[in-house]
Amino acid sequence: MRTLKNFPEGFYWGGATAANQIEGAWDVDGKGISIADVMTEGSFGEPRRITRGIVEGEYYPAHEAIDFYHHYKEDIALFAEMGLKMYRLSIAWSRIFPDSNSDTPNEKGLEFYDKVFQELKKYNIEPLVTVYHNDLPYHFVEECNGWSSRKVLDQYLELCKVLFTRYKNDVKYWITFNEINDLTVPLGNWNHGGILHEGTKYFVDQVDEPNLRYQALHNQMVASAEAVVIGKKINPEFQFGSMICHITVYPHTCHPDDVLLAQREDLIRNCFCGDVMHRGEYPYYALRYFEENDIQIEITEADKAILKEGICDFYTFSYYMTICKSADPDTAQTSGNIMGGAKNPYLEVNEWDWQIDPKGLRYTLNHVYDRYRLPVMITENGLGARDVVEADGQIHDDYRIEYTRQHIQQMQEAITDGVELVGYTSWGIIDVVSCSTGEMDKRYGFIHVDKDNHGNGTLKRTKKDSFHWYQKVIETNGQEL
Ligand code: BG6
Repeated sequence: MRTLKNFPEGFYWGGATAANQIEGAWDVDGKGISIADVMTEGSFGEPRRITRGIVEGEYYPAHEAIDFYHHYKEDIALFAEMGLKMYRLSIAWSRIFPDSNSDTPNEKGLEFYDKVFQELKKYNIEPLVTVYHNDLPYHFVEECNGWSSRKVLDQYLELCKVLFTRYKNDVKYWITFNEINDLTVPLGNWNHGGILHEGTKYFVDQVDEPNLRYQALHNQMVASAEAVVIGKKINPEFQFGSMICHITVYPHTCHPDDVLLAQREDLIRNCFCGDVMHRGEYPYYALRYFEENDIQIEITEADKAILKEGICDFYTFSYYMTICKSADPDTAQTSGNIMGGAKNPYLEVNEWDWQIDPKGLRYTLNHVYDRYRLPVMITENGLGARDVVEADGQIHDDYRIEYTRQHIQQMQEAITDGVELVGYTSWGIIDVVSCSTGEMDKRYGFIHVDKDNHGNGTLKRTKKDSFHWYQKVIETNGQEL
């Protein structure tokens, strides 16, 4: 007999955002410029540009975003009304250490997060805090080409010490880096690594130097391990999560060439960082990949020791899509989050050409749980879609409800399979600025924000149909989908 298990008691139903996509207030209360602040608007087909510093006359969506900085009380009250048990947010590094001369942290920046955590506590919502989510302080780009330099690693640890000490009684769950594996692909250079080569103008299509990129990734994995060690000394109760952008890979056909290609891609893009962060050393297949691609990076004995020591406690990942790998160069392609791949004829895509694959989530959950045998959280998942505000002000987003319902059903299947899934923080619980295109119209939220792609709008918050639906899901602990 086939009976599905229930979601466990205390399951963390939640929502997720990132500072640079919601806070705005880019220069308020002493905040410095971050790399997100120098990315212009774009759209599907028209890439976001990267400017060297702030250029007058350009529109930068992150500057105001949805102005969470001034709306956090109202927004958290809405999260509470929805019933959220967990809220994943990130800290804007440039609010805490605004520029290269800041030896002491900016008190005003720290106070902002004090207030956010107080507000969450008021409603019993557990914070899950990402220390670094695509917003390196911009001065590091000009000074040392971002994370390719160890200088950034040292400064990141200074930031961690400040945050872990200040919030040691407010936050238990930390993620050291959002989607750390973004640096396994060229797209990660800028957004994730703060690496900007001469000639790079656009967020997509960046000049790439794999040596620097993998050095940056190494620096981040060492930084993560050191952060774990530092954090546990400050509060042994802290729990640290990895965070992988999981672009699940299928072979396009059962041809062994396709199967092998898919396996290599999965290992390097999806497994590599998780293996280092959870098993404490570079995996064997990475060494061959480095050799064959002439990647030479500096890994010291001290690095190896710290990687072993600072392993993460739980595994988290973002899941939006799956792709296929094909050895045939003529196979039709689809685009995607950090990478695209061969088109899967059995799947539908959203307007931005991301393949929708709820069953792939069950497959992925089994894949990662089998690999690490650790508690797992899905820390991003959602449908980017254009919404219509009806004449009466309502937003009927049944497509988003359907998408989320199907993914949650597959989560339940995975739990029944035996996967220890402990949380789900739906991405963009409130509409946010899209990371890849800078649009507002690529909406993920269960809460609508009145703002368009060019910065017009009242910023008014409205509950979409999905708000009420998700509220019911949480209230019934996933029984009523
Ligand atoms: C993830 C990022 O890769 O994808 C988020 O961590 C991002 O920051 C999300 O917003 C969705 O991507 P996009 O481009 O639709 O905003």
